[in-house]
Formats: sequence, C-alpha cells, structure tokens
Amino acid sequence: MGGCVGRTFYITTPIYYVNDLPHIGHMYTTVVADVLARFKRMRGFEVFFLTGTDEHGQKIERAAREQGIPPQALADQVVGRYHELWRELAITHDDFIRTTQERHKAGVRELIRRMSEAGDIYKASYEGWYCAGCESFYPETQLKDGRCPDFGHPVERLAEESYFFRLSAYQEKLLAFYRENPDFVRPASRFNEVVRFVEGGLKDLSISRASLRWGIPWPGDDRHVVYVWVDALTNYISALGFGSENQDRFQRFWPADLHLVGKDILRFHCVYWPAFLMSAGVPLPKQVFGHGWWLKDEKKMSKSLGNVVRPDYLIRQFGADPLRYFFLREMTFGQDASFSDEGFLSRYNADLANGLGNTFARVMAMVRRYFDGKTPPEACGESTLRAKAEEAVARYLESMEGYEFHRALEAVWELLSAVDGYVTEKAPWGIFKAEGASGRLSRIMYNCLESLRLVAVMISPVMPGTADKVFAALPTDDAGKKQLAWGMLPVSAALGPDQGPLFPKVDDKAFFAEVKVSEQVSEQGSTQQSELVSIEEFARIKLVVGKVVTAERVPKSKKLVRLEVDLGEGQLRQIVAGIGGSYQPEELLGKLIVVVANLKPATLMGVESRGMLLAATLPDGSPVLLTPEKDVPPGAGVK
Ligand code: MSP
Repeated sequence: MGGCVGRTFYITTPIYYVNDLPHIGHMYTTVVADVLARFKRMRGFEVFFLTGTDEHGQKIERAAREQGIPPQALADQVVGRYHELWRELAITHDDFIRTTQERHKAGVRELIRRMSEAGDIYKASYEGWYCAGCESFYPETQLKDGRCPDFGHPVERLAEESYFFRLSAYQEKLLAFYRENPDFVRPASRFNEVVRFVEGGLKDLSISRASLRWGIPWPGDDRHVVYVWVDALTNYISALGFGSENQDRFQRFWPADLHLVGKDILRFHCVYWPAFLMSAGVPLPKQVFGHGWWLKDEKKMSKSLGNVVRPDYLIRQFGADPLRYFFLREMTFGQDASFSDEGFLSRYNADLANGLGNTFARVMAMVRRYFDGKTPPEACGESTLRAKAEEAVARYLESMEGYEFHRALEAVWELLSAVDGYVTEKAPWGIFKAEGASGRLSRIMYNCLESLRLVAVMISPVMPGTADKVFAALPTDDAGKKQLAWGMLPVSAALGPDQGPLFPKVDDKAFFAEVKVSEQVSEQGSTQQSELVSIEEFARIKLVVGKVVTAERVPKSKKLVRLEVDLGEGQLRQIVAGIGGSYQPEELLGKLIVVVANLKPATLMGVESRGMLLAATLPDGSPVLLTPEKDVPPGAGVK
C-alpha cells in the first residue's frame, strides 16, 4: 500500500465521445472538475484528475463512415481538438485516457476476467429494442411513442447472441450499499431516482455486441466486441493501471472520491458501474455527482436546431477565466441553466469588470500613491472588514466543500462589495490629506489589501490567470497565495508593476456584432474539420464576383464595414463585413471581391447584411480579401 501519508483526492470527468466536436456541455464538466482539482490541491490534497475520450461504439463508427474515414482517424482528429481546448481553458488534468489505448484494453480484459470468474457472465440470445443513438437496449415498457425514452431517437428490434452480466443478482446488494452510503449519489433528488429505478427490478444486462466491429474484442471470442458502457466505465480504473503490472497508482488513488457526470448518464455510473465492481471484487467509488444540463436560450442544444454553443469566440476574445467564472457562477450545481451571450456579457461587465476589476484597481491606486509603491507599514489587528473577510472565507470553504460553487463565489463577491463600502466609509483620501501616510491610514489600507489577497486566493481555482495577475501586483510568498488565514500580507513590501485593468469593460453592441461575425467564421471552421461535403452540397453555395461601390464604417464598431457591392444584378447589394480592423473603407472602393450571394440575410449592429465576402485568415486572425487575378465583370460566377 504505497506510502499513504497525505490525503488524496481522485476526481474524474466522463470520457467524451469523439463523434463530434466539443461544446459548452462537455466543457462544463471538465471545468468544474478542474476547479475542484485546483481547490483540493490548494487545500493540501494530493490530487489525481482524470479526463479522456470514449472512442468505441456505433456512434463513432457511424460518424466516421459518414465522413469516409476510419474510426481511428476520426478519433485522432477530435482528440486533437480536446487537447487544444483543455489547454485553452487552463485545465490541469493529470492524465488523459483514450479507450483505444492498449493500457485501457488491458483493464477491460481484466475486469471481464474477474466478472467471469465470479460466475456473473453467461451467453444467451438477446432480443430487444435497440437505440443506436444511445447505444442502449430499452425494454418495451420504457419506450415513449415507440422511440427511445431520453431523446426520442428511433429504435429497432434486434436479436443476437450476446454475453450477459448477471445484474439481477445485484439488486439487493446495491440497495444495501445505497442505504449504507447515503451520500453516494448527489444531489439527493437524483439519488432517489436511482434507488427507485433499482427497486423497480434489475434485468441481466447484455454486455457484448456481435453486430458491431468497432470495439474491444471480447476476450476469447472475437466475434463479439465489448459493450461500449463496460468499455467506457472501466477507464476510471484502467487509467490507474488496473490490469497492468504496476498497481501503484491504483493502490494510491482508488476508490475515486468523485465521479462527476451529467444527469443523463447517472444510471450507468450509479447502478451498472457499482455492480460490475462488486462482481469483480473492486471497491466502489465514494461519490457520483450528477450535474444539470446547459440549455441555450432556455432550449435544449441540438445539432438539428442549430443552437449548439461552441464558445471558441468567447475564449478567443476573453481568455479562459471569464468563461470558467460564468460556468461556475451561473449554474446552481445540480440544476439546469441557460447559456446566452447576453447573460455572459452582463456577468462579465457587472461582476468582473466592475466588481472585481474596479475594486482592485481602486485600492491598488490608493496604496501606490499613499505608501510610495509599497504595502502599508502597519498591519491591523481587529476591524469590521477583517470580520467580514473571515466570515466570507468560512462561507466560501463550506460552499466549496459542499460543491455549491455559485454560493462560494457569492461569498467572495460580498467581500468585494464590503471592501468597496469600507473604502467609501473611511474615505482614505481625506485621511491622507489631513494626516499624510499615518498609522490609521496604514491600517485601513492594509485591511483592504489583505482582503484582496484573500479574494485572489479564493478565486484562484476558478480564475487562475486572474489570481496570478493579482499576485504579480501583491507581494506574497507561496503560502500567501494559498492560505486563507488573515494577516499573511507582508508590511512595507514593494508592490509589483501595475497590471492594467484585470477585465477591460466591453461594449455590448460592438461585442454582439462581432460575435455574429466570428460565429459564422467558427461554424465554417468546425464543419471543415469534421465533415466532408459533396459536390452537390458545394454547388448550393452561390459565389460571384462583386465590385465595391461604397464603403463606410458601421458606427461604434471597431471591425464592421458597410459595403454596397455591384453583383451585376442591376441594383447594389448591401453587405456588412468584419474587415474594418485590417482595411480602411477608402481602400476598398472599386475592388473586385468574391461574395457568397445566397447567404441568409443577417442583421449586424442594426444593419442588414445580404451576403458575405470571402477573405483568407492570417495566423493572428486578421482577414485578407480574395480578389480575382484578372479583371472580370461584376456578377461573374466562381466555382
Ligand atoms: N461517453 C459517454 C460517457 C462515458 S463515461 C464513462 C458520454 N459522452 S458525451 O460526450 O455524450 O457526454 C459527456 C458528458 O457531457 C456527459 O456528462 C453529459 O452529461 C455532458 N453533456 C453533454 N451535453 C450537455 C449539456 N448540454 N449540458 C451539460 N452537460 C452535458 O456520455
């Protein structure tokens, strides 16, 4: 049993399917896991944080076939995007498991070997309603209007020979386990659903597929592959070395402290997974948390509605921290929440630019001025602000431990407004005028600065980049960057250089116009990566040459330019283009450009745009217009 000195914390995310590119729902689980991992590290735990990808099964096989590439190639492509995204979002996972890795397959084989040895696996014919979308068989009673109960996908009647797991033998054992571990599933309401499901009776589970090729071959019978959920769930132990020679990590970190999952996959984690582990004689995880669903403008995100949020534009414009903050502040952990650009921006401006950014800038400016670029020379024993800070820290810790992130952040923001109120009440500028850099002024400003240090420590798991900026200005040692006891800020120590505003305020209107432009761009980018189009599909896009007749800036926008373009139609076409960062309107006059002429009209900052011009994109994102190599008449087709 490796030298178990410190406390350990093993946290996992679900492993993500690679049939599609990630969206905010996927990002959310990983961001929450990262916040907890960072928080636990800060509290002195030895953390192991695992994420990864689920690469086998029908979903992936089908998506790859649609794109005309092998499933492994599709997986490799999408995994690349996950790695990139986790880097952009400052995710600090300790390992990334892919179910196509050999170490994982070894873990799956070992689990099946043990379940067989326990006498829990037998072969029989299986017939049922199969939903390819969910990769699940459903009993007749669960179908809704003849379709799968969760998503309304079509189901088909399938019969095949299959290996079965004796799940029915675990009903009583699971119920006993739930009774003995009342915190096993959270939130409590979800636990009740799980218990009711198990009380309703468990049927044996088909855990191999003869109809599928893309999976892990069944040990000793490669006409079958392992059912994708047996395959996927095993990642939590295969990543620790279960089934390999080296058991150190497994010994040290298993059982997991927390499996973080979306509510849709709770049953797999709270019923099937514990039953598999019981059968294999492996200890059960300590807790599963089922979080709620991100909606877009109150609606379920779906490809067919075209409302899937891939907030690459937010990360590009704001960096990781504001999005991480929004995720944690906006969703009551466990319930559903709705994403909207408006909601995001109003939190950004109100909580970050104003609340945090302004308070920090205001206090720092005073301290720099009154104490000559140093922290004040005298610390403070007792004060109303210290009492408030200590109260905020206590609430923050309690809420973080209880996974109530929005409450933890509320406590931090209450402290920020207490700092603001304290400054207004004490009016340090008046004291400075009357007394100069007196002991009283020193104590007041110390209280403010020390409160801001505590704020930075508390936000560091959520907004690590911002906390680093604060610490670049405040002279603290490593302990002062992690610890939440009052009074760790040194006196008379030189402040670091001014960092500029932590969060520059963003103008709503300009932001939304540019969001629309970049959403168009990133949607094109993502289809290019994930799907091939047929020549017929391409032919639906009408590309023509146009001549720019007028060009002027759209008021209040940095990037948008309004153009009137001659497309040889007899009348001019109005197009709004996001090229004003790289081109002056005057230099566009008379230019020949390529225009998508049959694009649906869109309104950008109140101006209607009926088409889009084509431009190449430089690595820094700036556009370069495409123009024909010889003179051609306006309206000439492009293909
Ligand atoms: N591969 C399985 C998980 C296997 S874990 C052993 C899977 N993958 S998934 O890519 O479809 O989903 C991964 C996670 O993303 C799930 O926890 C799911 O709940 C979450 N989300 C997907 N869409 C979501 C939202 N719109 N909102 C919040 N989370 C959602 O399931």
